[in-house]
Amino acid sequence: MKGIIFNVLEEMIVEQAGMEVWNTLLEKHTPQNRVYVSAKNYPETELFAIATDVAVLLNVPLQQVVKAFGQYLFSGLATRHTGVMTRFSGFTSLVMGIHNVIHVEVNKLYHEPALPTISCVLVNNHNIELTYHSPRKLCFCAEGLIFGAAEHYQQAITIKHDVCMHHGDEKCILNIELIND
Ligand code: HEM
Ligand code: ZN
Repeated sequence: MKGIIFNVLEEMIVEQAGMEVWNTLLEKHTPQNRVYVSAKNYPETELFAIATDVAVLLNVPLQQVVKAFGQYLFSGLATRHTGVMTRFSGFTSLVMGIHNVIHVEVNKLYHEPALPTISCVLVNNHNIELTYHSPRKLCFCAEGLIFGAAEHYQQAITIKHDVCMHHGDEKCILNIELIND
């Protein structure tokens, strides 16, 4: 897992709980003097250990923490990669471009990133069916990222996530509905 993901996690935890909490989490779950460099790879077990501890501290399910982080992560990634963001005219074009535009760009910028397989079908003007697969099973992070993208474009959405790797399904299916008033 790339350091940039941990950099945004640090930003969120420091902002919401303070530097001491972040330092305590680092001491508990990572090797001594851990410093995350954005382009370098770190064990994803560190991310899961920190997120699991936060879930225990807040007394909420892990998936809720992962989703909240995903939502925060979107603006963290978008502000660090403004170039790729200019390629999209709005929410739908961004979601349709996750796999073939955004993550293709990520593959050029980073050495061996660990990316999911995502494919999207535009069912009609207000429904997108997104299929997610990854050995890391970070579908709740994907859900949060999509809510973050919706927030970025001020687009109201709902997501149905009934087919899920965490329920033994082979892939996750996220049915995204755009709400227009
Ligand atoms: C990793 C989905 C937008 C850059 C990931 C992961 C997910 C994901 C779920 C975790 C890895 C996994 O599941 O195997 C999405 C979705 C997006 C989105 C749903 C939009 C709604 C972006 C944007 C950028 C970006 C805008 C920045 C240009 C990355 C990077 C990683 C990543 C750098 C980490 C790779 C690694 O740790 O090796 N993405 N992403 N993503 N994504 Fe995206
Ligand atoms: Zn899922």
